[in-house]
Parts: sequence; C-alpha cells; structure tokens
Amino acid sequence: KCLIGYTKPFVKCGKNEYVMPNVFRKHAEYIYNFKVRPDDIWVVTYPRSGTTWTQEMVWLLENELDFEASIKKPLYERFPMLEITTQIPEIAVELIKINFMNLAKFQGLNKAVKRPSWETINEAPSPRFIKTHLPLSLLPPNLLDTAKVIYVARDPRDVMVSNYYLHKMVVKGLLRGTFMQFWEAYRRDIFPYMPLISHANEAWEQRHHPNLLFMFYEDMLQDLPKHIHSVSDFLQKTITDEQVEKLAGHLSFKNLKKNKNVNNSTGDTEIQFIRKGEVGGWKTHFDAKMELQAEEYLNTRLKGLSLQFPTYD
Ligand code: A3P
Repeated sequence: KCLIGYTKPFVKCGKNEYVMPNVFRKHAEYIYNFKVRPDDIWVVTYPRSGTTWTQEMVWLLENELDFEASIKKPLYERFPMLEITTQIPEIAVELIKINFMNLAKFQGLNKAVKRPSWETINEAPSPRFIKTHLPLSLLPPNLLDTAKVIYVARDPRDVMVSNYYLHKMVVKGLLRGTFMQFWEAYRRDIFPYMPLISHANEAWEQRHHPNLLFMFYEDMLQDLPKHIHSVSDFLQKTITDEQVEKLAGHLSFKNLKKNKNVNNSTGDTEIQFIRKGEVGGWKTHFDAKMELQAEEYLNTRLKGLSLQFPTYD
C-alpha cells in the first residue's frame, strides 16, 4: 500500500519518499500492483541516464538483432514507458509550481492521453519490454523475483545538465528558469522521481540479485562491446563477436542520433533525445560555486552508502 503526500507532492510505497507529479498519485497503487510476467524485460532508470540507448540494445538482443524490424516501429512503441498517464510535459508539473515553466505553453500541451500506458501494457502480448523511470520501491514488490530488470545509473551532475537541455528542448519557450535556477531545484531534490541517489541506491543494493543487471552510463561509454556482452549474458542470449561489433555500430552515438526511430521517444514532439553523449560535460557548465555545491550534494547523499559513480578523466 502506498502513502500519498498531500501537503508535499510525494509517493511512498517502500522505504523512500519520491517526488511525483499530482497526476501520478491516482496511478501509484495500480502500478505497485501491476502484474509482472516472467518473460518481461524492464529497463529502469532515473531520467537522462542512458535509458534510450539501453532500451535499443535490449530490444535488439532479444529480437535476434533484427535491425529491419527495429526500424519499422519507433522505440516508444516497441518499448513503452509504464507511467505515462498524460502527455510527457505534465511530468514537469512541479516545475510549473515553482515558476520554472511558462504556464501558457504548458497548458497547450497538457492534453490527457486516451489511456494510461500501464493499462495498455497490462494487456499487451508477451514478451513485453517495459521502460520506467520509477524507482524499485514504487514498482511491484515481486518485480525482481519475477522478471529481468536492467538498471542504468549516471553521474548526477551530467544527468542534471542533460535534463536541463531536455526541458529546454521539449517546447521552445516552455522553460523560464535559468540554468542556475534549474540547478538550485535539482540539488534540493524537488524534481519528479527524486531523490536521485535513493533511486540509484535502491537498485545498487540489489545488484547481486540474479534478475538485476546494474550498469553505469560512464562504463557503457567507455566500453560498449563489453556491456553488450554483459547484457546478452544476462538475457541468456548467445552472440558472436561479429554481431557485437555490428550492434555496437548501430548503438554508437553518431548512428543512434541519426536514427529517427530512437531519437524521438515521444512521437509527437521534436525532442532531440540524443544530445551530446559525453562524460563530465557538467564541467563546462558549472562554475566554482556550483562545483562545490555539487560536491556537497554528492557527499551528503552518498554518505554511508557503498554506491559510487565512476570517474573517467
Ligand atoms: P546527454 O544529454 O548528456 O547527451 P535517457 O535516454 O535516459 O533520456 O538519456 C539520454 C542521455 O543519453 C543523453 O545524454 C543522450 O545523448 C545519451 N545517449 C543516448 N544514446 C547514446 C549513445 N549511443 N551514446 C552515448 N550517449 C547516448
């Protein structure tokens, strides 16, 4: 049973409270009780951590590298997102409250979708590919004991920069806040699906569970073929070195950015989901003060945890 915050926008089904938009609250219980199937494959991430990249990899590995089939349907249809209950921008509702968003622009987008996506996914034939940004504790408690889950985490500073550009790109003029204001909101953990570190840590704690594969975006970027091997082993697929090479080529930043079936995860906006694809891009965005604040953010939140984000210089 999930606790819903009324004075503060949060949802809590397990041990942690998460910021979620109002619209999510009536769906929380349904999602918590969603029926997981043993042949489901889930990709779980905090937004902007490499979800799309991983989804395309998983889908192709599971579908015998059928590149032709992959281009016949956009990724958001092959691998739908569980918690879409209205159009994507409503996710940003908390940002409107704090005056980051241009309300007039937002309302133009805020048309309800016909059906919450968890309902559609519930009826979809197996095998199902499910994307979600919800942390493990807001997902069905039997998830890991039933289906395969791949979790991807990324340095929160790069996630923040990436998220800033995403919000700026969703609709021109939607985002009113400056980069600095965005950071201020970020480091207070008031964005949907936050706190980010708890999100990642819930999965990190389960990293030895046989049905969970935990990966870091930074490591994937460092050695994609190695991660293709780990994912295919995890999915119990056999793959030749030649196939790995071909898939790595398909999944390269350059090629995925050109791929219209992947680089537009909503289908109805012109979001360039695939933007820069680098590690440490935050360094060219943060001034000395922000750098210190970020260090403090990470030190406080990671204190006492064994979770650490990889560093590559
Ligand atoms: P940047 O905005 O830093 O470039 P998500 O899919 O979870 O929203 O994550 C999006 C981030 O993953 C974006 O980061 C995007 O560019 C990056 N990404 C997507 N495909 C990639 C690839 N093939 N190689 C490296 N990064 C990729």
